[in-house]
Parts: sequence; C-alpha cells; structure tokens
Amino acid sequence: MSSQNPNGFKTILVTGGGGYVGSALVPSLLKQGYHVKVVDVFWYGRDVFDDCNQHPQLERMELDIRDSTRLKPALDGVDAVIHLACISNDPSFELDPALGKSINYDAFAGLLQGAIDQGVKRFIYASSSSIYGVKETPDVREDAEPLPLTDYSRFKLDCERDLLAHPRVRGMERVILRPSTLCGYAPRLRLDLTVNILTIHALVNHKIRIFGGKQLRPNLHILDMVRAYHAFLEAPGAKVDREAFNVGFQNRSVEDIATLVRATLGDPTIELEYTPSNDNRSYHVNSDKVRQVLGFETRFTLEDAVRDIAAAYRAGKIPDPLNNTRLSNIKRMQELRVK
Ligand SMILES: NC(=O)c1ccc[n+]([C@@H]2O[C@H](COP(=O)([O-])OP(=O)(O)OC[C@H]3O[C@@H](n4cnc5c(N)ncnc54)[C@H](O)[C@@H]3O)[C@@H](O)[C@H]2O)c1
Repeated sequence: MSSQNPNGFKTILVTGGGGYVGSALVPSLLKQGYHVKVVDVFWYGRDVFDDCNQHPQLERMELDIRDSTRLKPALDGVDAVIHLACISNDPSFELDPALGKSINYDAFAGLLQGAIDQGVKRFIYASSSSIYGVKETPDVREDAEPLPLTDYSRFKLDCERDLLAHPRVRGMERVILRPSTLCGYAPRLRLDLTVNILTIHALVNHKIRIFGGKQLRPNLHILDMVRAYHAFLEAPGAKVDREAFNVGFQNRSVEDIATLVRATLGDPTIELEYTPSNDNRSYHVNSDKVRQVLGFETRFTLEDAVRDIAAAYRAGKIPDPLNNTRLSNIKRMQELRVK
C-alpha cells in the first residue's frame, strides 16, 4: 500500500522515533501507507513498534543524530522529516548539560543541512510549549514573548529560530509544533509525565501525591499528537510553512488531574496527598490557530488516557512500573551512562 498524502509525500524520516511519541506515531504512519525511516539510538529498546516491528516499510536505523556524516545518506529519498530526537525533559537534560546541548542543539544544524542537501520537502520540528515559561496572560498564543526557564526549553527555542532563519533552504517547508505535555498509553511508555504517573501511583500505591497542585498545565492525548503529525504532513505548504503552532487543548491544574484520575478509576478510596512545590509554572495555552488553520480538533480526553493506562497495566503491559528504568527517561539515562 502506498500513502495517499495530498502532497505526494511517501517517505518520512522520524528522528527519535523509538521514543514515547514515535512508538505511537511510527505504527500509525506505516498503517497509512508511508515508508518510514526511524533514526534513533534506541535507548528504550528497538522493538517498540507494537505489531509493526517487522513491517516491510519500516527501516530502523541505529544512528546518533550527532553523526551528521552518517545521517546525510539516511536522508536520501526522504520527503518529510519529523524531528523528535532529544533529551526530552528538564531533569534528564540537567543530568549532563553538555550532552544535552550536543543532542538538543548542536546536532540540529547538521540534521537541517542534511535535509536541505537531500531535497527534503518538509521539516516538522517538535518544539515544546515550555518555551513560553511562566505567563501572566490568561491565554498563551503563538505570538507570546517566549521566556524559556530552563536549558531544555531554551534550546528548543534556539532550534526554532535557527530553523526559521536558515538562509538557504531551497524551498524546504519548515513547520514548528509546540505540543503540551502528553499523556496516555504508548508501547514505549513514559511515566515521567503528569497524567501517566498520577495514574500509575493511583493503581500501584492507591495514593496520589500532588506537588503544588494549583498550577495550570496544558495536556494532550498522545493519539491526538499522532493525529496532529498526520495533519501537518497532509496540510498544504502555504498554510503551514514557516509557522509555529501550539498543540495542547486540555488546560488543567495538577490537583484537577489527580481528582480526575481518581474519578476515572472509580475508586473514591484512592488517597490524595498534598506536598508543597516550588515549581509554579502555570500557563494556559491557546490552540485556536491549529483549529482555524487546519480544522484540527482533538478526539481523545484525559479520561481516555487514564483508562488506557489502567487497561494496559491490568493487562500486564506495564510491568513493575515504579522500578522499570525503561519507563523513566532519567533513570534509563543514568543506567546507560550515555555520553
Ligand atoms: N512527551 C511530551 O510530553 C512532549 C511534550 C512536548 C514536546 N515533546 C517533544 O516531542 C519529542 C518526542 O518526545 P518523547 O516524549 O517521545 O521523548 P522520548 O524521550 O520518549 O524519545 C526521544 C527519543 O530520542 C532518542 N534519542 C535521544 N538522543 C538521540 C540521539 N543523539 N540520536 C538519535 N536518537 C536519539 C531516544 O532514544 C528516544 O527514543 C521531543 O522532541 C520532545 O521534546 C514531547
């Protein structure tokens, strides 16, 4: 089967495709008929693509994005790049800031140049809504002044700027997505994300510890994230080229999420324990633009995410969740001692 992409895109290269997002996105791209190249160091395992690990249209390339010499031939024949690879949260970035910078920022120039040289038609960059920092404004839109508070967020913003400012792109369309915190089950699960970890604590310990609790945070179901990447592959270039889009719909406080987890699991005896926090980042992300420009609406809720994780846990798909290092970026990186 070949893809029916309206732009004629057939081959998609996903960097970091062996991570949480990739493990849901790659099977979905394959099912849509795309030929998919995954470039990853596979810190969380190679066989994360559910029933698609041996798919004939999947090419798994064990390759570090910092190795631009080997990366360039991998980009040959690629129509679109979705760039996910990175050290993807503050604590794991701060484990080794020099390593973090080398992957999250320094490697970007080589990847971008390789994509331009090989005639890639569209480059989709996974940035983050964390580039906005703390905002007093009730609604953070794409034109809000970015105020990254950590190096992880700062380098996301620097990559965005380099992508847009690149002087010689030879017609390559460039799109920036700023997703909110994701949630829900995927074959390579991350339990360092709010909804996911609160759900697992409720299931395993019968208790949810809430840090702070009042801060508003935007959330997005991972399957809507996957749908958004499809929408950005299919969108006409004129609508998305050199544009940034927030993708995050459910703005909820941590306290609200904890209550929602307890209600969704239908167990009022789950205890909520409050702990003060000095992480007061609070923001309400507005995603009207992606709705207006692409007609993109979410289909999945936070309750769906809780239910999916609970079902996977009960089916034995999340073994030893609180000790399994593959479910936590920071624990896995400490274990691998990556350089
Ligand atoms: N998960 C979220 O809530 C969220 C929210 C906003 C933005 N994002 C962004 O989306 C992207 C994907 O996030 P995720 O949750 O899937 O992250 P993840 O940590 O699960 O996956 C990252 C992947 O990148 C790979 N990788 C790391 N360094 C590499 C290197 N040098 N070369 C090749 N591969 C490398 C890892 O092996 C891993 O498979 C990231 O860029 C992240 O910043 C994620």
